Amino acid sequence: MRTALVTGASSGIGAEIARRLDSLGFNVIITARRADRLEALASELKNKTTIITADLSDREECYRLYGEVKDMGVSVVVNNAGFGLLGNFDDTDLERELSMLDVNCAAVHIFSKLFIRDFIRRDRGYILNVGSSAGLMPGGPLMASYYASKAYVVSLTQSIAEELRARGSKASISVLCPGPVETEFNDVANCSFAIKGISAEFCAEYALKGLFARRTVIVPSAGMKLTAAAVRVAPRNIVLRTARTMQSKKIKDRV
Ligand SMILES: NC(=O)c1ccc[n+]([C@@H]2O[C@H](COP(=O)([O-])OP(=O)(O)OC[C@H]3O[C@@H](n4cnc5c(N)ncnc54)[C@H](OP(=O)(O)O)[C@@H]3O)[C@@H](O)[C@H]2O)c1
Repeated sequence: MRTALVTGASSGIGAEIARRLDSLGFNVIITARRADRLEALASELKNKTTIITADLSDREECYRLYGEVKDMGVSVVVNNAGFGLLGNFDDTDLERELSMLDVNCAAVHIFSKLFIRDFIRRDRGYILNVGSSAGLMPGGPLMASYYASKAYVVSLTQSIAEELRARGSKASISVLCPGPVETEFNDVANCSFAIKGISAEFCAEYALKGLFARRTVIVPSAGMKLTAAAVRVAPRNIVLRTARTMQSKKIKDRV
């Protein structure tokens, strides 16, 4: 039986990816901080499910998690845990922001490195890093750190993918870059979307199709693909100004 690890599986995109992997016949290892949520998800799944609670803002917890799963035959890793913060850079809380960088970047970096070594050795395995369409933009005023963290995930993943291609490895790495998805993301970031999001179910299904087709950058929804293409050719200062206007519409209770 194939085994997958999904981080941030207690809600949103991660929970849907875990459900989808279970329906594809995987044993799923689900991780997040909220044990009650993970238990509720596990009770729905058909195949063997392993729950491991971990706070991925803590590097020691990342190493502990890897140590617990490394001999469980994991062939799919979904680095999905993450969150956002909204506000002017000088206003947002520094400690929360650093914690965000630990989850969005350091944990993704650690698991990408440790698992890609295993997968290269076995010449098989898939890593899906959950980035964001934010990572395809030159920046995101009012969500500066979040956009920068996702640009890191996109850049890291694309470089590793090219290294794997150049050496003919069958190990594979992809980055998922959705636009807005209807999840608990907004409650955590204390914002509301300026445009309607896609469902987490659609996002998960699209992501896994792209992952198993070995696509490096996976952008669900035609609208976001178009936006990403436009951003590549538009002047950066115009894109940054437009992004700031879009972000300002997300601020809840704005005056
Ligand atoms: N929703 C969107 O519009 C959107 C768009 C593009 C990209 N994304 C990305 O998609 C990913 C999933 O987000 P979502 O939209 O599904 O939001 P969500 O519903 O809030 O889920 C976030 C998940 O991350 C976990 N998490 C957060 N901090 C953690 C920590 N310190 N340690 C361990 N787990 C942690 C949460 O679990 P616990 O709280 O239980 O620990 C939860 O399971 C994120 O990387 C996000 O940046 C979201």
